[in-house]
Amino acid sequence: MKITVTSAIGEEITDIIVPVSGNGVAHKTLQLLEPLTGVAATNLELGFKGEVGEVQLIYHQNRKIYLLGLGEKQEFHIVLKAFRLLSVKWKSKLPAALSVCWLYENIHHSLEGDAEAAANGLFLGRYEYGMHKSDKGDLHPLTSEDAALTLIVPEDGMQAAEKAANRGVQIAHAQMDMMKLVNSPSNHKNPVDLANWALNSGKNHGFKVTVFDKKAIEEAGFHGLLAVNRGSEFPAKFIVMEYEPEGDHKDLPKVGLVGKGVTFDTGGVSLKPSTNMHYMKSDMGGAAAVFGTMEATARLQLPVHLIGIVPATDNSIGTTAIKPSDVIQSYSGITIEIIDTDAEGRLILADGLHYMVKEFQPDILIDLATLTGSVVRTFGYNAAGLFSNEDSLAHDLTKAADKTGERVWRLPIWDVYKDDLKSEIADIKNYSGRPICGAIDAAKFLECFIDDHPKWAHLDIAGVAFGDTEYSSQKSATAFGVRLLTEFLDSL
Ligand code: BES
Ligand code: ZN
Ligand code: ZN
Repeated sequence: MKITVTSAIGEEITDIIVPVSGNGVAHKTLQLLEPLTGVAATNLELGFKGEVGEVQLIYHQNRKIYLLGLGEKQEFHIVLKAFRLLSVKWKSKLPAALSVCWLYENIHHSLEGDAEAAANGLFLGRYEYGMHKSDKGDLHPLTSEDAALTLIVPEDGMQAAEKAANRGVQIAHAQMDMMKLVNSPSNHKNPVDLANWALNSGKNHGFKVTVFDKKAIEEAGFHGLLAVNRGSEFPAKFIVMEYEPEGDHKDLPKVGLVGKGVTFDTGGVSLKPSTNMHYMKSDMGGAAAVFGTMEATARLQLPVHLIGIVPATDNSIGTTAIKPSDVIQSYSGITIEIIDTDAEGRLILADGLHYMVKEFQPDILIDLATLTGSVVRTFGYNAAGLFSNEDSLAHDLTKAADKTGERVWRLPIWDVYKDDLKSEIADIKNYSGRPICGAIDAAKFLECFIDDHPKWAHLDIAGVAFGDTEYSSQKSATAFGVRLLTEFLDSL
């Protein structure tokens, strides 16, 4: 999609989106718009309320004008939502060449924020859910060769708006790739596919990728990953990615991201009920957040030294699979009693976290995982559970979350909860055996493997990586974390 910027509505511009805030200025905007729309503001207001995502189409002279409601709250994520809704719902009617105009006292969050959100939202609307349909239907107009977006902005904002819109498009690329990967069915998504995705993206966008195969995993001693992989016909992979900005980056923050890459979670011998098991193709949502953030960071050339680690395997049932009561080793040396083979994510993350700290000593350590049903029962599909041993990190992540609309909410990790994981026969057990405080217990389990890292955060994204959204009719991938972490890294 080609992006251009101008400061006036030229003859050639025929399709214009005009975002309209619903907060008092709306009337002013509609008045200022009268020459363009040919409709009196008072008339328009009878039908158009400016609610988030509301669209009023006006034909005037040779133009089509789409008034797009943004509601009252002047927030970035609202602009994002409105533009994405427009792009999805009006797909069959939109032209390939679109423009968005901010010349009518209609800047909502900030010109840069609005431009980024508009480009990101419009672009994300291109995502097609029917990847395995025989009849793909009509393609989104913005996927066509001559797709173009023109930003019409005040003269002094042209450069900033262009940069912001390009950023929105770059992030959308990474997000859509992750939606595709997470929505991919289990039989199209094995550890090797995750590894290949990383290798490819690294090659295209300039970050280093190392993949440990089964033999290297055995040699390194990733026993948690090996334990979960035992029931599988597909060998595990341990994927390590490193992005280093050009030039001297010794003074830049070093951030380590670890993502749960369970390509399908049957529960193992502690088999899950069948009703919703098909959703477990999304159990690599943490891996997707890490992958997408690696790619977005490299695309945007952010000034940060970023390392990503994804332990990848499925959790299958079979004669060789681990059983409840087994005691396994971990990469860190801590022995683990398996109470429930469905608590597998923490076993592979244990190895990933410990390896990250030992090999890379990042300043900031963050892991993301679709870890517990408990966090879904707590926050539904609307927020991730945030756990951290450092207040400023928790604060900064929450700030990025509030801006991007990828919400997080902090839960405690008091040491009393560690008692739940005491084992009589091993160093620790993987489940308390009681159906309470599951998300907190899981976080306490992970904490044992971070080697006392002073600045760690864990995001339990089980409810938000894959769920109900306004943009599709069934549960689907959200690419949760990509936008949040990119924003967080950018703010460092
Ligand atoms: N992958 C699941 C968690 C999950 C649940 C993700 C719902 C997405 C939606 C995880 O591996 C799991 O099974 N967790 C168990 C842990 C329990 C056995 C200690 C859970 O939360 O029930
Ligand atoms: Zn599980
Ligand atoms: Zn799982």
